[in-house]
Amino acid sequence: MQRIPEPELMDEFEQARAYAEADFSEPNERFVALFAEKFPGLSAGSMLDLGCGPGDIALRLARRYPGLDVHGLDGSGPMLAFGQARLRDEPDLAERVRFLQGILPGAKLPLDAYDAIVSNSLLHHLHDPMVLWHAVLDHGAPGAAVLVMDLFRPASTAAAHGIVEAYAGGEPDVLKQDFYNSLCAAFTRDEVREQLAACGLETLDISVVSDRHMVVAGRLPA
Ligand SMILES: C[S@@+](CC[C@H](N)C(=O)[O-])C[C@H]1O[C@@H](n2cnc3c(N)ncnc32)[C@H](O)[C@@H]1O
Repeated sequence: MQRIPEPELMDEFEQARAYAEADFSEPNERFVALFAEKFPGLSAGSMLDLGCGPGDIALRLARRYPGLDVHGLDGSGPMLAFGQARLRDEPDLAERVRFLQGILPGAKLPLDAYDAIVSNSLLHHLHDPMVLWHAVLDHGAPGAAVLVMDLFRPASTAAAHGIVEAYAGGEPDVLKQDFYNSLCAAFTRDEVREQLAACGLETLDISVVSDRHMVVAGRLPA
């Protein structure tokens, strides 16, 4: 099926609340486990989470790696407000986790270059996907670890509806609609391969890790 882009920012309060209250613990924990598996030697330094939303993954990574400073960037104020509230509940992390509001491309960040860049479910929101890959190149240190996970677009609208029912059948309608829109807005593996080739990131590896997720991982050139 053809890609149907969706709005980039999730900046309506109800939408952000439904997202922040949904249980993404399984895929988010899988994201953290994948990071540990792909980058076993990396346990300290700086990490940037692009499109961090309500911050669940950034906080999980900060908990797992006490030597890591984690900066989460998002353009949505409501999403970040949920992240800040979670951070207030975990004062131990306050020194190492920062949530920053900014819109890609062009967002200003506190550090020039990060040792690791991660992103979950941002790519499919971007009208121009190259915005993500250029952000990775612009903000990653030489040799930085990169882990990007996103949905891939199903073959048909029927398949997309099937995935929504299978994984979000019991969720509020606003979340089910978001999920369906996201599947329709997602890229295929071949499209992502072309995106990486277009900006010299073809050393990153693309793998399909579930019936709806793909992962792009590797290191920036040293
Ligand atoms: C589906 S959410 C994913 C949130 C989080 N990474 C997670 O896995 O739970 C996508 C997030 O990307 C943000 N976003 C979309 N386009 C953006 C842009 N151009 N600049 C900054 N943030 C953006 C949205 O506001 C939203 O919070």
